[in-house]
Amino acid sequence: MGDEVRLLEEEIAAATGAKYAIAVANCTAALHLACLALDLGPGDEIICPTLTFVATANAPRLVGASLRFCESVGEHDLTMDPDHVEQLVNARTRAIMVVHYAGFACDMEALQALADRHHLALVEDCAHALFTTHRGRTLGRWGRVGCFSFFSNKNATCGEGGAIITDDDRLAERLRLLRSHGMTTLTLDRHRGRATTYDVVMSGLNYRLDEIHAALLRVQLRRLPDFLCRRREIFRRYAERLQGSPVTLPFAQGRFLENLETTGVHILPCLLPEGVNRDWVMARMKEFGIQTSIHYPPIHRFAAYDSVERLPRTEGLARRELTLPFHPLLSDAEVDFVVESLLASIRGGGSV
Ligand SMILES: Cc1ncc(COP(=O)(O)O)c(C=O)c1O
Repeated sequence: MGDEVRLLEEEIAAATGAKYAIAVANCTAALHLACLALDLGPGDEIICPTLTFVATANAPRLVGASLRFCESVGEHDLTMDPDHVEQLVNARTRAIMVVHYAGFACDMEALQALADRHHLALVEDCAHALFTTHRGRTLGRWGRVGCFSFFSNKNATCGEGGAIITDDDRLAERLRLLRSHGMTTLTLDRHRGRATTYDVVMSGLNYRLDEIHAALLRVQLRRLPDFLCRRREIFRRYAERLQGSPVTLPFAQGRFLENLETTGVHILPCLLPEGVNRDWVMARMKEFGIQTSIHYPPIHRFAAYDSVERLPRTEGLARRELTLPFHPLLSDAEVDFVVESLLASIRGGGSV
């Protein structure tokens, strides 16, 4: 870690308004470091949406905490449901993993009020929500820490990369130490003669970002505002084209549409009509030359989690979810082709 990492951290802090930005190897590392720095561990319960990438749950689980999974709000809002979160809170609850699914902000006012009431830490997983705001405040700064991903498919990328932001002096100090073996000086400090040796003040990991990735990312981040602009246009076009069709486009109404200009849409999940066979539709779309994917298989149903809990609302939504192509280089004609192909695939049959 040299000047590129330092400058990247300064630029991320400036872009988000956070006091500290700490560059790390990826967002999974960021989430793991956040759980370690917050001292989460055995005996603690952490609330996490079931509709997210498994890294959000793996991080608290790897430090020994137990997970409680929560429902999504509903058809038009796939983010976590604060009312269900409140029902899951008990004396052992320590933190909430907040995921801004597809880049759309959770109901942060409700989650923050709830966290304050019950003295819980909010860890924001902003892998989908890069440097965007919710009611004037950057996502990632509502909670104690915000974690970002710069993986290949994210809104800005350097291949593999991540960052953590926080305003908390003590947490920032712990995060920096945990990122690099708990060592008090870095290789570069010693190389430049600012230090000759080091102490190790806690056990840590190697979750550093290197200079080459940082340099790449600094350039990509300058392009982010244009990318986000085009992503919003594409979202609007999908919304227009799907309006009145049997397919539901979540986040295309209410507060999400009102705040679209400050949202960094990341993926395009849609919900197929009840009873349509998703595998069949995916196969037809493939014949049209269109890749689709699923975000996400609910975590509580994975073998490793094997939860006895049932989350019927989210399980129902997840069964219907299909993610359509979405990236800033899509042309309007390509969006139209995706929508026509999707509607033709659904009309073609494939009911369960
Ligand atoms: C919601 C969410 N959290 C965390 C991650 C993990 O990010 P990374 O691949 O940078 O470790 C991802 C990556 O896809 C994600 O989508």
